[in-house]
Amino acid sequence: MTESLTKPSADAPVAIVAIDGPAGSGKSSVSRAAAERLGFGFLDTGAAYRALAWHALEHGSDTSDATAVLEVFGDFDYAISLDPADRWVRVGGTDVTAAIREPRVTDAVSGVARVPAVRQAVNDLFRRLVASAGLRGVVVEGRDITTVVFPDAPVRILLTAAPEVRAARRSTELGGHDAAAVAAALHKRDAADSTVVDFLTAAPGVQVVDSTHLDLDQTVDAVLNVVDSTMGARDGR
Ligand code: DC
Repeated sequence: MTESLTKPSADAPVAIVAIDGPAGSGKSSVSRAAAERLGFGFLDTGAAYRALAWHALEHGSDTSDATAVLEVFGDFDYAISLDPADRWVRVGGTDVTAAIREPRVTDAVSGVARVPAVRQAVNDLFRRLVASAGLRGVVVEGRDITTVVFPDAPVRILLTAAPEVRAARRSTELGGHDAAAVAAALHKRDAADSTVVDFLTAAPGVQVVDSTHLDLDQTVDAVLNVVDSTMGARDGR
């Protein structure tokens, strides 16, 4: 973690920018770029659910069985970088940064994320990670950050995009092949995930940024405009 990201004083509150949204909304790239421009840390909360799904698959566990998931959660040793310029995720010392993006993990992750005891424990972990990182601010992205994890964050944003645009973006990310299959998988995962947390409608006080007609830079600017107008955090950069 570089010095520029650290807090000026030990007791200054950590400024939280909470960003939720569905798959393919651009959430991850936008949040990371916004964090870099703000000089903040960046926490990708989906990575924890992905890492747990990877861990369960390593154990040969059935990720659709809550009891089996809870069993492997017992020895889930998780670490993640909050530096937007140096991202890594580790489970028990193994670097899983790339492995957690594999389709087999993506297919399994909704099962893991639906277990209430897992959600409660990882939410506590997210709050501890942010509080103990020694950063002056953190952009935290996920599905329930604006509503459950940091409902009192000074900046809360729901990043949306039209379903067909989200599917096209995800297909490009994955190399552009079989766009119809990618779209079907994305909508299936959204449907499964939205039974657990509603990330398709903004909770009261949450500002919507619709990236349907915006490219990455324009979306980052739109997010930073919300940050500016809400807490003037960019002045401190
Ligand atoms: O954003 P992502 O695709 O990496 O998220 C992986 C999965 O984790 C996704 O299927 C939904 C779930 N998730 C969640 O339930 N709550 C969060 N705060 C973040 C992700």
